[in-house]
Amino acid sequence: MRVLITNIGELVTNDPALGEGPLGIVRDAAIVVGDRVEWIGAASAAPAADERLDALGAAALPGFVDSHSHLVFAGDRAAEFAARMSGEPYTGGGIRTTVAATRAATDDQLRANVARLVGEALRQGTTTIEIKSGYGLSTADEARSLRIAAEFSDEVTYLGAHVKPADGPPDYVSLVNGEMLAACAPYARWVDVFCERGAFDVEESRSVLKAGIAAGLRPRIHANQLTMGGGVQLAVELDCASADHCTHLSDADVDALADSDTVATLLPGAEFSTRSPYPDARRLLDAGATVALATDCNPGSSYTSSMPFCIAVAVRDMKMSPSEAVWAATAGGARALRRPDLGQLSVGAAADLQLLDAPSHLHLAYRPAVPLTRLVVRKGTVVSRQRDEQWPDHSLSVGAGPLLNASSKLELPHKGVPK
Ligand code: NIG
Ligand code: FE
Repeated sequence: MRVLITNIGELVTNDPALGEGPLGIVRDAAIVVGDRVEWIGAASAAPAADERLDALGAAALPGFVDSHSHLVFAGDRAAEFAARMSGEPYTGGGIRTTVAATRAATDDQLRANVARLVGEALRQGTTTIEIKSGYGLSTADEARSLRIAAEFSDEVTYLGAHVKPADGPPDYVSLVNGEMLAACAPYARWVDVFCERGAFDVEESRSVLKAGIAAGLRPRIHANQLTMGGGVQLAVELDCASADHCTHLSDADVDALADSDTVATLLPGAEFSTRSPYPDARRLLDAGATVALATDCNPGSSYTSSMPFCIAVAVRDMKMSPSEAVWAATAGGARALRRPDLGQLSVGAAADLQLLDAPSHLHLAYRPAVPLTRLVVRKGTVVSRQRDEQWPDHSLSVGAGPLLNASSKLELPHKGVPK
């Protein structure tokens, strides 16, 4: 089944060869999708397809690629948030509170929580979401977290090295690199470590990432979130796909990122929710580093699933232009996951896209906290429709087909991505 989406006022392709500027914008555009993008161009030149959807002049862009989240948990830490807003600092110490709640939860409770958050994200335009473990911190609890995460995403990350649990063995790193890794690796594509004072130092972090690599996982890292440690340098040394947070960077860190294939993934939800200074996106971009934006969705430091929120904050407070922020939330996230098939709309790319209830991608930052994502297509099928009262059904589609028979299920059915 091929579907033609036409009358797109502004189509962000992220392929500069296809249109204007770094976002490769095509105006008065159309796109033909099956599982993958089959054709892109001027609406006036569009070929026929099995089904036709009229975008009514709205903007379309790739689905967001949220390359950093911690969705497998139970409970919340609203009281900790309130205390921070009254002046308490964020230290990461609350992670252990969530570990206790997560261990006490049933598989179905954890699964329902992930489904709820993945659904929230999907309705806000996220078509790919990376999910980490890290609130189990025992072999059985980490393996079960990853097993559940893998039900929702192919981009699953083993974070046994989140913090050292109070009840863990004295040499917790040996457990993370041994029995726990063996139990977790079958469910994961990535290995991550929280390289930070009070969590894992550089030497420990290097050993965790190297053990993961030896087990067939690919490395990424929580680096330089709370202090200016050696996490970013380690990320570059090990060719991590991404160094995440990057809030406290030396000039040497910025240069190292700019000269590497490691993406600097910025997580403004964390600074927002911990009332911390934002990372200096402008400095990274001006140096030539690749920047991604992600939510870091977790119950402690950043309890938001909203990529549009992250875009708005990055533009307002991190001196990113709206175009840079939209690129970072789509193509940037895809680079941070080393998924060249995602984050752009060009022939052969995944047919993951969203239509906005707005004429331009600029509105994602210009209209903060307004749910602008109108329709989300994943692998050529509608997976979310919102704001139908303002955009009548009859204008969306004619004839039967995948877009009309849209599944209402909220999970992201990722399958078939090579390890
Ligand atoms: O990315 N920094 C470590 N991990 C999470 C926070 C987890 C928590 O506070 O529960 C983060 O911000
Ligand atoms: Fe995180």
